[in-house]
Amino acid sequence: MSIRLGDTAPDFTAETTDGAIHFHDWLGDSWGVLFSHPKDFTPVCTTELGAAARLKPEFDKRNVKVIGLSVDPVDSHKAWAGDIAETQGTALNFPVIADADRKVSDLYDMIHPNANDTFTVRSVYVIGPDKKVKLMITYPASTGRNFDEILRVIDSLQLTANYSVATPVNWKEGDDVIIVPALSDEDAKAKFPKGWKTLKPYLRVTPQPNKE
Ligand code: BEZ
Repeated sequence: MSIRLGDTAPDFTAETTDGAIHFHDWLGDSWGVLFSHPKDFTPVCTTELGAAARLKPEFDKRNVKVIGLSVDPVDSHKAWAGDIAETQGTALNFPVIADADRKVSDLYDMIHPNANDTFTVRSVYVIGPDKKVKLMITYPASTGRNFDEILRVIDSLQLTANYSVATPVNWKEGDDVIIVPALSDEDAKAKFPKGWKTLKPYLRVTPQPNKE
């Protein structure tokens, strides 16, 4: 069965470049990003893994653990890691799952047979500290992901998990946000002491609440 937002992220044990992991234990209290690669020694994936490694300080700041996956064995991943360090200027600094038996790919529905019946598509799952799936994005093999966008969405997910707000189009950290329509003006007064602008009764804009 396919995974939907709000579902518990399937748990698994797997071999990775950093040894065996039990996924939920490995996540602990952190947020997680699980992302799949069609295959080792492929050009787009090489750039993606380099970009994700460069952004590790940004993921750390947000309490996010990153883990990649490809349907090749650990030895192959380790040999590929040398190419990533050589060409991307950053060594891998997070584990990559060796999913040669496709156990995890199947659990997360990462193989789309009408796209390719052997390799995974580029799936991204963001998982909350409650182990629930918060975001899923699927890209074709030919299109590399935008990790700045993944960080942007994590900022929104973390903000909206803690405040009664939603983030508008193209929002980024520090921009104004929207008070959720379910909150009455009466209740909003206590929660948003900086006030808000009412463009429509359902569209109330307020400064990001956790910023000075
Ligand atoms: C890549 O990662 O470069 C790639 C993988 C499969 C098909 C096309 C490109």
